[in-house]
Amino acid sequence: MIVLGIETSCDETAVALLRDGREILSSLVYSQTDLHARYGGVMPEAASRDHLRKLPRLVDEALAQAGLAWGDLGLVGVTYGPGLVGPLLVGISYASGVAVARDLPLVGVNHLAAHLFAHRLSEPEAEPPFLGLVVSGGHTLLAAVPRWGEYKVVGTTRDDAAGEALDKFGRLLGLGYPAGPKIGALAREGDPAAVPFPRPMLESGLDMSFAGLKTAAVYWLRDHPGTPPADLCASFLEAVVDVLSEKAVRAARRLSLSRIVVVGGVAANRRLREVLPERAQAWGLAVHFPPPELCTDNAAIVAACAHHRFTELACPGSLSLSPEPNLSLDGWS
Ligand code: KG4
Ligand code: ZN
Repeated sequence: MIVLGIETSCDETAVALLRDGREILSSLVYSQTDLHARYGGVMPEAASRDHLRKLPRLVDEALAQAGLAWGDLGLVGVTYGPGLVGPLLVGISYASGVAVARDLPLVGVNHLAAHLFAHRLSEPEAEPPFLGLVVSGGHTLLAAVPRWGEYKVVGTTRDDAAGEALDKFGRLLGLGYPAGPKIGALAREGDPAAVPFPRPMLESGLDMSFAGLKTAAVYWLRDHPGTPPADLCASFLEAVVDVLSEKAVRAARRLSLSRIVVVGGVAANRRLREVLPERAQAWGLAVHFPPPELCTDNAAIVAACAHHRFTELACPGSLSLSPEPNLSLDGWS
């Protein structure tokens, strides 16, 4: 079965064609970051219009690249939440149009569950149970995944997502949007111990908080304007990575899960890929990071999640999907 996956929940227009839930025939991601760079964050109205302009062409391009025709499709999967309501509506409307015109089933996908499916695509033989750490620009959460289709959120950020904190900190330094990759690169030349940034809520519990870290950076910059940017980035990133690693290991141990799967844009970060496995190893835990292109927003993960819902959960599909901007991962299947 060939699944057409569509992702428009934020500022990436993404389309993918997936065979039998595992084999990526084509995966195209058009990032709107240039459009939003001048605002220092995502401008929802501009995002919707750009998705509308780009999506149909991207689907044509994906079909051509995979050497497929419309008649080859067996299922359409689309993200219906969480995300920005306008951008979600563009994806859902387009996907519904395709489903009606081609008489195909349409399955709605939770963007956060889709992120976890990066693990299935990158390591097909590695199945749940595992602890999922979803760490992106919009979300930071820990979820127990006893089996695909069953998600129990055990920890979440109380305020900013980790990627959001990195992006806000980057804006302070004038690094542009999104700042995560640039902070990661600069950090490699800096001293992670140069600035004593706080580790909010590190000592106990599974919830996280990253907003105070940005405030600490504002005050530090005010009082120490000469601090080299590389040292600032290395220290800020170290605080974020420290909290994420500590909480993930704590959650896995508490839930007796021996594997941690890290997904979402921040999972592309090299420092996180060094620190977390090191900490986990000390407790005999394994850590899986899908390749960076599957960690950041893409539609192959949406197609994989839709395929699972349709074929393994017998989800019948629906032509009356609506955007759910605050859709939770907890209890979603
Ligand atoms: O998952 P994603 O592509 O989109 C959302 O669903 O949010 O994540 C985007 C976030 C941004 O905050 C970006 O700065 C961060 O992931 N990011 C990184 C890296 N690549 C992307 N953060 C740190 N290091 C990276 N290499
Ligand atoms: Zn995402």
